[in-house]
Amino acid sequence: MTNRFARRVADLKASEIREILKLTQNPEVISFAGGLPAPETFPVAAVADAAARVLASHGAVALQYATTEGHRPLREWLARFMTQRRGAWVSPDEILITNGSQQGLDLVGKALLDEGDAVLCESPTYVGALNALQVFQPRFVPVPTDDDGMLPEGLDRLLGETERAKMVYAIPDFQNPSGRCWSRERRERVVAVAARHGVPVVEDAPYSELRFAGEPLPSLKSFDQRGTVIHLGTFSKILSPGLRLAWIVAPGWFAKPLNILKSSADLHTSTFTQMVAAEHLAGADLDTHLARIRELYRQRRDVMVQALEREMPAEVRFTRPEGGLFLWVELPARLDARELLPCALARNVAFVPGGSFWARGGGDHTLRLNYSNMPPERIEEGVRRLGEVVREALANADSPGAASARAARRVAAAAARSGRAVPPV
Ligand SMILES: Cc1ncc(COP(=O)(O)O)c(C=O)c1O
Repeated sequence: MTNRFARRVADLKASEIREILKLTQNPEVISFAGGLPAPETFPVAAVADAAARVLASHGAVALQYATTEGHRPLREWLARFMTQRRGAWVSPDEILITNGSQQGLDLVGKALLDEGDAVLCESPTYVGALNALQVFQPRFVPVPTDDDGMLPEGLDRLLGETERAKMVYAIPDFQNPSGRCWSRERRERVVAVAARHGVPVVEDAPYSELRFAGEPLPSLKSFDQRGTVIHLGTFSKILSPGLRLAWIVAPGWFAKPLNILKSSADLHTSTFTQMVAAEHLAGADLDTHLARIRELYRQRRDVMVQALEREMPAEVRFTRPEGGLFLWVELPARLDARELLPCALARNVAFVPGGSFWARGGGDHTLRLNYSNMPPERIEEGVRRLGEVVREALANADSPGAASARAARRVAAAAARSGRAVPPV
C-alpha cells in the first residue's frame, strides 16, 4: 500500500524533538528537550472563571460555528496588543486567528510555495517550521547570519541570485533554537531589502514578550511600509500552549487567500476557546503576568548558566540569552551531539541535538537546552549529569584511533542522510 501516498509524503521525517519528547514523558527524566513553558505560570483559576462566565452569558454562541477570521473582541484586543507591545499599527481586520502558529506556518506555506520554490531562512532555524514547510517541497536557502541577525547584504545578494525566492522566514526575537535576538538596525534593513525585492518576510514571533534583560525592540512588522511582512504571534508562551490560540497579521494582498485556506483547512479556530481567552484577557493584568513569567525564566536561565560554567569543560561554549526559552551550546567540533544523546538519556537527561535545526545539514556539534520547564534543583542536577556525559565523550574522542572511527561514522551518517548506500569504510 505504500505506493499510494502522494510524493510529498516520501520526504516527510518524524520530528526528532517529538520522538525525544515521548521519552521525556517519564517523570524521572530531567528534560531540557521540549520548548515547554513553566506550567506554574498558567492562569488556571482565572481561565476557569472566564470559561464559566462565557458559558453562563453566551453559552450557545460559544458552542456554535463562527466566522473564519476569528472572534472580533479577541482580534480587537490583539490589534491593541500589536500596537502597544510590538510597535505595529494594525487593524482588527488584518488579523486572522489560527490554531497555534504552527497552523500559521502551514497556511503560509500553502499560500506561497510551489514545489522547488526557495525559502530563505536563518541557519539554524525552528525545526517545526522546516517540517511544516517541507510538505510543500521547497528548497531551503540559508542566509548568512551573525549574532545581530540576518546580514542585509547577504540577503540582498541571495534574493538577487536565487530563482523563485518566495519567502524569507525569520525569528527575530530569542530565536528557537539559538536564543539570538536581532538588533534594531538589522530588523529595519532586512525588511527594506525584502521589500525592494518584493519577497514577503514571514516574521515568527512567539517569544517577543519574554525579554528579561536588555531593551525591548520593535517587531519587523513595525518597519513594514509596503505590506512585506506577514507576522505570526501566539498565546502559547504568554498564556498557555494548550489553548492552541495564535494569530496572523496579514497584509492586504494576503488576507483573502489566507482566509480561504484557513476555512478549507478547519473552518475556524474553536469559538469557545477564543471567547474564553478574550473574556480572560479583558480583565487580566498582563503586565503583572508577563513580569512573573520573565522573572521565573531569568532565574532559571541564571541557574543553567551558572551550572554550565561549573560543570562543562572549558572548550564548551554557550550563549547567555536575554530572553526566550533556550540556551545554545557548542561542543568541541570533534563531538557529535546526536551520539551523546543516548548516553544522556541513559542518565535520565534529555536535550535536542542541534543538527535537527539546520535545513541543509551541519551543526552536529551543537545542542539546544530549554530552561523554562524545570525547577532550579533539577536544572543543576541535569547539567551536572550532562557535564559527565561531555567529559566522557571528550576522553573517548581523544583516545587513540578515535579520529579515524569518527571520520568513518561521519561518512556513513552523511551517506544515510543523502539517501545513498553507505560506502564501505
Ligand atoms: C519559532 C516557533 N514558531 C512557532 C511555534 C509554534 O507555536 P504554537 O504553539 O503557537 O503552534 C514555536 C513553538 O515552540 C516556535 O518556537
